[in-house]
Amino acid sequence: MKEKILKALRECDGYLSGQQLCELLGVSRTAVWKAIHRLSDEGYAIEAVNKKGYRLVKQPDILSETEIASRIRPGGLGSIVRCYDTVTSTNDEARLLAEHGAAHGTLVVAQCQSRGKGRRLRAWDSPKGQGIWMSLILKPDLPPEKASMMTLLAAMAVADALEAENISCQIKWPNDIVIDGRKVCGILTEMSAQPEMINYIVVGIGINVHNREFPEEIAKVAVSLDMAIGAKNHSPIRRSLLIAGIMEAFERYYERFLKEQKLGFIQADYHQRLVSFNQEVYLIEKDQVRSGKCLGIDDTGCLVAVIDGREEHIMSGEVSVRGVLGYV
Ligand code: BTN
Repeated sequence: MKEKILKALRECDGYLSGQQLCELLGVSRTAVWKAIHRLSDEGYAIEAVNKKGYRLVKQPDILSETEIASRIRPGGLGSIVRCYDTVTSTNDEARLLAEHGAAHGTLVVAQCQSRGKGRRLRAWDSPKGQGIWMSLILKPDLPPEKASMMTLLAAMAVADALEAENISCQIKWPNDIVIDGRKVCGILTEMSAQPEMINYIVVGIGINVHNREFPEEIAKVAVSLDMAIGAKNHSPIRRSLLIAGIMEAFERYYERFLKEQKLGFIQADYHQRLVSFNQEVYLIEKDQVRSGKCLGIDDTGCLVAVIDGREEHIMSGEVSVRGVLGYV
């Protein structure tokens, strides 16, 4: 009920009377009054004026189950959402929930991760309230070898959502989103599977939003959305809105992918966003470094590069890609 009231107040241009809210939700005045009080306790500034009703005057950048669910289409991916204050890693929490029967499309969000994970066993810095640290549980009927393609769909979804907020970005294959050459988002897809079938996939997405500083080892390559939009006249980032945008875009890509089972339908747009498209890159595999020209991705999500005159299709997980001038 709280999310319905929140949505109604947000969509209303002025005051909503107690009576209107009662009729809209089919509940008593006392129930409405209690829900309004709970919303105020959660940080929303709701003005109550005699004979006029209620008005939402301030919506801070809150990440709560009510706030996120109020922005996502009922039944859509992420409409079942679990918010935590601190977890070790939302990916680990999501795996635990998935093992215990959490539904397809459940989204796990945390204010803070004490042991956020990146790829290649790296740590992911996840300070409290500074970012979007979230993991989506998927239970698709797909062969296990297709799971890694979720990372590419998630990258497209994040890029779509950022662009909807007028923030231009690029994709660094396979799992980074970059702004002006610095990493703003990382994606970590994990899976539990049997030889022929997927039990569940967890798509973990970390976005630096309000960070003003980073640990020394990543300070030169990391950026937050606030830092990126800093000088521009941009309205403050509302994380719940971005999450809803990502969920909506991801759902669109995911549904199409289930039908086609290949990535051909994203290739052209992916290439537009791919930071290394048609560029010389270094391909780093264990202790071997080779250079080549990046031609884009194929319809299975492999990176295509010409190395020593030969075209190679490189699977994510095998190599990391670096631009010849640095991180991108
Ligand atoms: C990378 O760039 O190496 C991937 C980083 C993924 C970070 C996100 S934050 C939410 C989710 N939980 C984790 O522990 N990791 C992912």
